[in-house]
Amino acid sequence: MLNFEFHNPTRIVFGKDRFRELNRLIPADATVLLCYGGGSVKRFGTLDKVRQALGERNVLEFGGIEANPRYATLMRAVEVVRREQIDFLLAVGGGSVMDGTKFIALAAEYAGNPEDILFGKAKPAQLASAVPLGTVVTLPATGSEMNSGGVISHGDGKFVFFSPHVFPRFSILDPTLTFTLPPTQVANGVVDAFIHTVEQYVTLPAEGRFQDRTAEGILRTLIEIGPVTVADPKDYDARANLMWCATNALNGLIGAGVPQDWTTHMIGHELTALFGIDHAKTLAIVQPAVWTVRREQKRAKLLQYAERVWDLGAGDEDSRVDTAIARTRAFFESLGVATRLSAYGVSREQIDTVVRNLEAHGMVALGEKREVTPEVSRRILEEAW
Ligand code: NZQ
Ligand code: ZN
Repeated sequence: MLNFEFHNPTRIVFGKDRFRELNRLIPADATVLLCYGGGSVKRFGTLDKVRQALGERNVLEFGGIEANPRYATLMRAVEVVRREQIDFLLAVGGGSVMDGTKFIALAAEYAGNPEDILFGKAKPAQLASAVPLGTVVTLPATGSEMNSGGVISHGDGKFVFFSPHVFPRFSILDPTLTFTLPPTQVANGVVDAFIHTVEQYVTLPAEGRFQDRTAEGILRTLIEIGPVTVADPKDYDARANLMWCATNALNGLIGAGVPQDWTTHMIGHELTALFGIDHAKTLAIVQPAVWTVRREQKRAKLLQYAERVWDLGAGDEDSRVDTAIARTRAFFESLGVATRLSAYGVSREQIDTVVRNLEAHGMVALGEKREVTPEVSRRILEEAW
C-alpha cells in the first residue's frame, strides 16, 4: 500500500426531513448566501423549506449557476459575497452548484486574480482561507458534498481545483429531495459514481485490500440498485443507497494509498467543454475505450474487476476482460446512457479538435503511470467513436 494522509472534516446529515438541522449547523448570527442553479429548487419547493429552516437569519440568494458552472457567472456571486459581507454559503443543488459555491468561497477571499485558482497559479499561502460553506444535495453523483475539489468551465475548457478550505462544513443528504430528478440525471449519477470508483480501482495492484473490497462493494451496489432507482424514483432505499455510494466513491476513502487513473475524466471534460455532453455521459463514452486500449497495462486489475464485480472467473483471460468491458457498456446502456461518441452527433473528424484541446490544456501525460500521451488519447477516442 502507498503512503497516505487522510482527513475529511465534512459532517454528513443523512435521511428524510433533515432540513431543520440547518438551524443547528449554521451560526445563528450568520449572513447566509443561498446558491442554487437554474430553478429546480424553486420549482420543487426545496428553497422555501431551506429558508424556513434558516429562521431569522439574514439570507440572500444567488441563483442561475448553470450546469458545468462558468467562471463569469460565479464571479458575479463573488461580488455579492464581498459587498454584502456574507459569512456563510449554502449550496442547494447538484455537483455544479456545489462546485460553483466552493469556487465562490475561495475566490471571495483571494487577493489576486481568481483565474489563478483554476490555472494552478495560486500559491498555497494565497489560498489560506475560504468563506465557510455547507450543502443541501439534490443530485447524487459527483461526491462534491464530501470532498475538497471542484470543476469550473472557463473559455474552451473545464478546470479542476482543490483546497482543504472548501470541504463543506456539513452536507445534508435527503434522498427524498432527489425524487424529482428526471431519469436521465439519475442515470448520470449512477454512471458518475461508478466511474469515480473505477478510476481509483481499475489501475495497478497495490495491496490496498480494504480499498479494493470497498470499491467492489460500491460497484456491486450500483449494479444492483441502478436500474431500480432509474425506473422507480420513489423507491427510498434504492435512492438512499445511490446517494451514499456516490458520496463514498469520491470522498478520499477508496483512493487513499492506491494508484489513481483519471484519464476518463480528463478526456471527458474536453468532450463536455466542446460538445456540451453531460459529464457522466462523457465518462460512459470514454471508459470502455480506455480499458480496451490500455488492457495490457491494466490487465491484473481488469481480471480482478471481472471476477469480483461481474463473477467472471472462468475461461481464458482475454475473454474475461472482453466480457467485463462488454458488461460494463451494457450496464450503462441499460440505464439509457449511450456509450458511443457517434451517438452524440460528434463526427470522427472532430476527434482532432479534442486531442488539440487536451494538448492545449496540458493533458499530455494521463493515467496511473502518466503513460497516456495525446497519441494514446486519440486511439481511445477513435475506439470510443
Ligand atoms: O440547475 P437546476 O435547475 O437546479 O437543474 C439541475 C441541472 O439542470 C438538475 N437538478 C438537480 N437537482 C435536481 C434537478 N432537477 C430536478 N430535481 C432535482 N432534485 O440537474 C441538472 C444537472 O445538475 P448538475 O449539478 O450539473 O449535475 P451533476 O451533479 O452531475 O454535476 C456535474 C458537475 O460536477 C462536476 C462536473 O464536471 C460537472 O461540472 N464534477 C465535480 C466533481 C467534484 N467536485 O468532485 C467530480 C465529478 O467528476 C465532476 O467532474
Ligand atoms: Zn465525475
